[in-house]
Parts: sequence; C-alpha cells; structure tokens
Amino acid sequence: MVAVSENTVATEGASLRVKDVTKVFAARDSTAERMLALDAMSFAVAPGELVSIIGPSGCGKSTLLRLIGGLDFPTSGELYVGTEAITGPSSERGLVFQDPCLFPWLTVRRNIQAGLVALGVLREKRSEVNYFLRLVGLEGFADVYPHHLSGGMAQRVALARALITHPKILLLDEPLGALDAFTRMRMQDEVLDLWQARLTTTLLVTHDIDEAIYMSRRILIMTPRPGRVERSIEVDLPRPRDRSSAEFLDLRSEILKLFTSPVS
Ligand SMILES: Nc1ncnc2c1ncn2[C@@H]1O[C@H](COP(=O)(O)OP(=O)(O)OP(=O)(O)O)[C@@H](O)[C@H]1O
Ligand SMILES: [Mg+2]
Repeated sequence: MVAVSENTVATEGASLRVKDVTKVFAARDSTAERMLALDAMSFAVAPGELVSIIGPSGCGKSTLLRLIGGLDFPTSGELYVGTEAITGPSSERGLVFQDPCLFPWLTVRRNIQAGLVALGVLREKRSEVNYFLRLVGLEGFADVYPHHLSGGMAQRVALARALITHPKILLLDEPLGALDAFTRMRMQDEVLDLWQARLTTTLLVTHDIDEAIYMSRRILIMTPRPGRVERSIEVDLPRPRDRSSAEFLDLRSEILKLFTSPVS
C-alpha cells in the first residue's frame, strides 16, 4: 500500500507549460486537406504534480505527449519545461507507451541501462542500474530476455528504463492499458511508489476514469478532436485512495456524466 506524502520528498520534477499549442496534420486520405488535432491547447503542471489526461479516442492525447516528448513539433504555440522551450527529445523527458517497446535482443539489465549508454555515463552510473532493478522488483530477472517476461514485468522494465536518467517529466501514454485488471491495479500502486520516491512531474494518459481518480492530483478532460482542455478537476482525496469510498464514487459519476451528457 502506498502512503504518499507529496510535501516531504525532494522534488525531481520540473514545471511544464503548454501554451496555445495547435497541431495540424496533413490528412491521411484525400477527402480533406488538413486535420486539426490540437486547437490552441493550454495548461500548466506544477513541479512534482501527477496529472491524468482523459478524453475520447482520437482527441489528440498521444499527439500532445509526442509534442512534449519533443518527438514532433507544434504547428503553432509553445511548450516549456521550467523556463526552457522544448525543441526536441531529451533524457529530461521520459516516455512510456502502452507497448513497452523493449529491445528484444537485450537482457532486462541492458534494456534498463540503455539510456545511460546513450548518454555515455554508464561507467559512473552503473550502481543506479541495480538500484532501479530493485525499485521495480526485477533484481532476480536482470539476465532474462524480454520474451520471458509477463506484460506487467515488461512494463516495469520500460518504467525503470524511462526513470534511470532521472527525467524531470515522465510521460505515460496508457502504460497499463494492455494489462489485466488485477495486474493493472498492482501496477498503479507501483507507479505511485515510483512517483513518490522522486516526485517526478508525471502526465498520465488513460482511458480508465478509476485509474485517473486513484492516481492523480488533477485530471484534465479533453474535448473531442480538435483537442483542448475542457475541464480541470482537482482530486482532493487522501492517499491511499479507497476505490469504493463515497467520495471516489461521486467523483467517478461526475466525470462519467461529462462523457455521457448530450453535446450542447
Ligand atoms: N502522423 C499523423 N498524420 C496524420 N494524422 C495523425 C497523425 N498522428 C495522429 N493523427 C490524427 O490526429 C488525431 C489525434 O490522434 P492521437 O493519436 O493523438 O489521438 P489519441 O487521443 O491519442 O487517441 P487514442 O485514445 O485512440 O489513443 C487523430 O484523428 C489521428 O488520426
Ligand atoms: Mg493515443
């Protein structure tokens, strides 16, 4: 069980600011000239905050995370980590996708240390690899190859790989979406433990309203495409959160109503 106190841990996270970000894609078919994915989207995340993003399929959640990750560029608008504009990928921003995307030819240890190798700092940071193997509970699996891992274990490797470079921002795009309900609930606690250990600023994209309420301090609800922030909802419940408490269920039905009420 996690007992998270957000005020007593030194924060590794940085603030994030998304300002009037618009993203237009060339249309994938010939029926339209262009496709507006994000429309002047703006929001800010405080250092160490864990914010969930929920919204209908195709509203631009992955597009947004790719822009913050520096894997793509906005058509207009600006993105900042702290006071620095995002201009490309950086080890300061760790990404984890629904598919853990491990290197199948590398052992668990080598997958986790890949970021340190890329930065040329493996020699001095080697002890961190053992620390992160322990942190995600895989010290007994260091020499195993990915095809021997369960979905939950593979996702823990992906998390350790993203965290080992001590990112200031962690971007999670439905990282638990492919897991069964029980593994998923256990992994939610594990992700919360990891977050608690460093207070990395975390953006979690999820389709699961319960997951968003259970994990985050704040939930951003996006409009259907073109994506913008429709609502920002504070989750002011004590941790560890009780998924069956009246307050939890009230918030859940309030959010569900936003998705089921007819469009005005
Ligand atoms: N490279 C691209 N070229 C053209 N259109 C794209 C591209 N990437 C995304 N899109 C379109 O932009 C819109 C937003 O896509 P995105 O993947 O960000 O949605 P999403 O909110 O992550 O959806 P889901 O919940 O299904 O993962 C979609 O209509 C998608 O088809
Ligand atoms: Mg997506």
